[in-house]
Amino acid sequence: MPRTEFLATGFHVPSRLVTNEDLAGMMETSDEWILQRSGIKTRYWVGPGETGVGLAKAATLKALAKARLQPADLDCIVYCTCTPDHFEPGNGVFLQRELGLSDIPAVDVRNQCSGFLYGLSIADAWIRTGQYRTVLLVGAEVHSRGLDKTTRGRDTAVLFGDGAGVAILGPTVDDGRGVLSTHLFSDGRHAEKLWVDGPGLAHDPFVSHEMLDQNLHRPVMEGREVFKFASTLMPQSVQLALQANGLTLADVKLLVPHQANLRIIEMVRQATGLREEQVFINIQKFGNTTAASIPIALDEALDAGRLRRGDVLVLTAFGSGFTWGSAAVRW
Ligand code: UT7
Repeated sequence: MPRTEFLATGFHVPSRLVTNEDLAGMMETSDEWILQRSGIKTRYWVGPGETGVGLAKAATLKALAKARLQPADLDCIVYCTCTPDHFEPGNGVFLQRELGLSDIPAVDVRNQCSGFLYGLSIADAWIRTGQYRTVLLVGAEVHSRGLDKTTRGRDTAVLFGDGAGVAILGPTVDDGRGVLSTHLFSDGRHAEKLWVDGPGLAHDPFVSHEMLDQNLHRPVMEGREVFKFASTLMPQSVQLALQANGLTLADVKLLVPHQANLRIIEMVRQATGLREEQVFINIQKFGNTTAASIPIALDEALDAGRLRRGDVLVLTAFGSGFTWGSAAVRW
């Protein structure tokens, strides 16, 4: 059975750069608070006319060019987002249409910050069994339009950014390389600790003026609880990835963690025992882009020469659900 390798990656963010000072002009917050608590300096937010699918298309075209492939070479789209352009259908079919394709499957994955890992696991299984050969894996989000940009929503509004990151995946003929493992977890007992309640079909009517007045359409987070679970469960899943593959800490060239909070990433690093140069961090520039954060970070890491053929890469994520997991890849 072949393993799955990354043929190319790409990312795209909107053109509007939003600084912490910009946010301090919208709500009661400060550059100092945001930087100290999260490590974030800037993030990108969409402007008029920009959409999640538009960002995903731009990222896809960059990755296709690097892989020297055409859209028609893709056999399947796996699109991970928790901020879809529309209630239905999912963003995957809109991206498919934008790419000029009409005869391949497009599936949407809704696993928030862990979306890219869940999508990778699905794509890997399809590639290994031979069901699909060249898979476009997308993590793309537009958070900014959904955030409460007043002081009431400041605990979440300052954290999230928009962006898209993609990977083009395919079978490798080289036995030693490719995706070595994926480990996925979820625990729905914590679903309401980070969620958007409505609109939703659990409500009757599913959308109402009252619902909007109550702000149910904005993300709500118990930040400290999320922090506590994230900083415990991500290190555990990294250790699992290493154990499952008989790898030691010294074997890891790079850990690319989901970028939710600089303090969480530092706790993950300390709990696992990895050295600073083994962990990739770019949260300061992009904020938390949920499903897009790992592929954006991976593309930047590759661009910076942090990963070479044969190196061991470990990915880990944690997010709403709760959902979390890890992947190990020999590059
Ligand atoms: O992607 C996965 C999901 N997300 C995460 O992993 C995020 C996990 N959580 C966190 O990163 C952190 O909990 C936060 C960054 C969200 C918050 O940091 P914290 O150190 O846990 O702060 P806190 O929630 O305990 O709030 C401390 C204070 C509060 O004021 P009082 O009650 O102490 O007077 C908040 O009202 O900071 C206040 N606060 C703010 N102040 C200025 C909350 N948000 C802001 C803000 N600016 N933006």
